[in-house]
Amino acid sequence: PLRIAVFASGSGSNFQALAEAAQGGRLGAEIALLVCDKPSAPVVSRARAFGIDAFVFQPRDYASREAYEAEIVSRLRDEGIELIVLAGYMRLITDVLVQPYYGRMINIHPALLPAFPGIRAIRQALEYGVKLTGATVHYVDGGMDSGPILAQRAVEIRDDDTEETLAARVHAVEHELLPRAVRWIAEGRVALDGRIVTVRR
Ligand code: GAR
Repeated sequence: PLRIAVFASGSGSNFQALAEAAQGGRLGAEIALLVCDKPSAPVVSRARAFGIDAFVFQPRDYASREAYEAEIVSRLRDEGIELIVLAGYMRLITDVLVQPYYGRMINIHPALLPAFPGIRAIRQALEYGVKLTGATVHYVDGGMDSGPILAQRAVEIRDDDTEETLAARVHAVEHELLPRAVRWIAEGRVALDGRIVTVRR
């Protein structure tokens, strides 16, 4: 199976969805490593529960983003990682990671990109007043949530939605969309050509 590393910073519900899919043989990939920038994040215990190795670090222990990313890259090479999945990794990525992994690094974002990039996308959508939002899986380039789009699914916004109720429905969609996107890549069905991503049926 394809060896993947999942990067996450918080709760890790998407990590959980990926790990369950892998365990059930539905991912076509093996999560070889969790990379986490917050030692106290719940995702770290989730990885432990699945027996998945974790590289946990504190950005403040390093001189720069480039410095910790260089360490991450060397760990990814040691582990033979073939695909990076950003699943709630709340840090900007520099060229140190983007250059060696372009086309082999995807991210899940809780909005229909290019609408509402950046942080708090669910709140942004509610405050803007759109009636439709959703989730996007895209390849990571040097910009903010700007890379080629692999998959999207829509979620309707209801008049009585709060950030919590809307987030619950967006997350449920993410938990299906992200494992599916990883499986497509693992099956070799995804082609990236400039901005355009195609998935062979
Ligand atoms: C997810 O909704 C993910 O799309 C979002 O963070 C959440 C992490 O949840 N990512 C971003 O907003 C990236 N800008 P999780 O830790 O429960 O998987």
